Amino acid sequence: MSGPYARIAGTGSYLPETVMTNHDLELLVETSDEWITQRTGIKKRHIAGPHESTSDLALAAARSALAAAGRAARELDLIVVATTTPDRVFPSTACLLQEKLDVHGCPAFDVQAVCTGFVYALGVANNFIRAGQSACALVVGAETLSRLIDWTDRSTCVLFGDGAGAVVLEAATEPGLYSTQLHADGSYANLLTVPYGVSQGYDRVRQGDAFIEMRGNEVFRVAVNTLGRIVDETLEHNGMSKEDVDWLVPHQANHRIIEATARRLGLPMERVVVTVDEHANTSAASIPLALDVAVRDGRIRRGELLLMEAFGGGFTWGSALVRY
Ligand code: UT7
Repeated sequence: MSGPYARIAGTGSYLPETVMTNHDLELLVETSDEWITQRTGIKKRHIAGPHESTSDLALAAARSALAAAGRAARELDLIVVATTTPDRVFPSTACLLQEKLDVHGCPAFDVQAVCTGFVYALGVANNFIRAGQSACALVVGAETLSRLIDWTDRSTCVLFGDGAGAVVLEAATEPGLYSTQLHADGSYANLLTVPYGVSQGYDRVRQGDAFIEMRGNEVFRVAVNTLGRIVDETLEHNGMSKEDVDWLVPHQANHRIIEATARRLGLPMERVVVTVDEHANTSAASIPLALDVAVRDGRIRRGELLLMEAFGGGFTWGSALVRY
């Protein structure tokens, strides 16, 4: 493998101000802090304000990542936003973000792979950089999932939150990003879905009656097995071993799923970045949010090897192996 490679120049994130705790949810549905904590590890989640959109969250995370990278927005030559909750049907959230950043002309588009969206977006941006088509790319995961939640359905409303995370990728002579492994299997579409959209059931969308539906148990089982396999696939592809990994930065859906993947890697939980307790499941935003938290609190240091992995609706799943 020869250069150019993509390296993470800076990270950023943003969480909306309003916090909803498990105790707040006890007032809405028949649930308990104890049940939510035991089954998921979640204690609270952030909820976007009524006038806050996905591109607003993305903008705050992007500004913070650009500052950390020491880059100006005008230096960006690519913007990729991973989201399942775009501001509009079109233009893409990436185009709206581009305008908010006051930059013009560079390619900007969204990637929709639900909870695996950030890993997919990283893979796309990595290929742009590897091909010499980009030297400074913004990759964002941003979601306002609270807008897709049925607040009377206890089996889903306790699980999700809003937020955004971002990285600035730049071309470098050494990795950086070793590889992304990306997968999908649409035969599982109905296990985790909002089954309405523009060309199907748009009435439901217009009535505000289109919500996340999930067969949690079945998703859980496939997620644990699949994530175990992707860890092995990623290490094997790069000729590395479990001992080489310094940090697991997983998608934050459920503490029990994260623990199972860490066990598979033989990594103690001290080497796993866990934010699901504080943020809940923020879908495409969860990995860049977790990454930024651990970079800023000094846990993740330059030169360390990070394994990111995610699983989500589609099903989609994937990983990224990165020398930070
Ligand atoms: O990010 C994308 C991928 N998404 C995921 O990875 C989510 C994967 N799934 C999960 O994380 C778990 O399956 C859940 C956290 C969603 C559910 O945990 P579980 O241990 O699989 O519980 P369950 O669905 O088997 O439900 C057990 C019981 C049921 O009651 P019965 O039928 O046993 O009487 C549910 O009705 O818990 C009940 N229940 C609740 N009780 C209190 C379901 N939701 C709640 C709730 N509070 N919020």
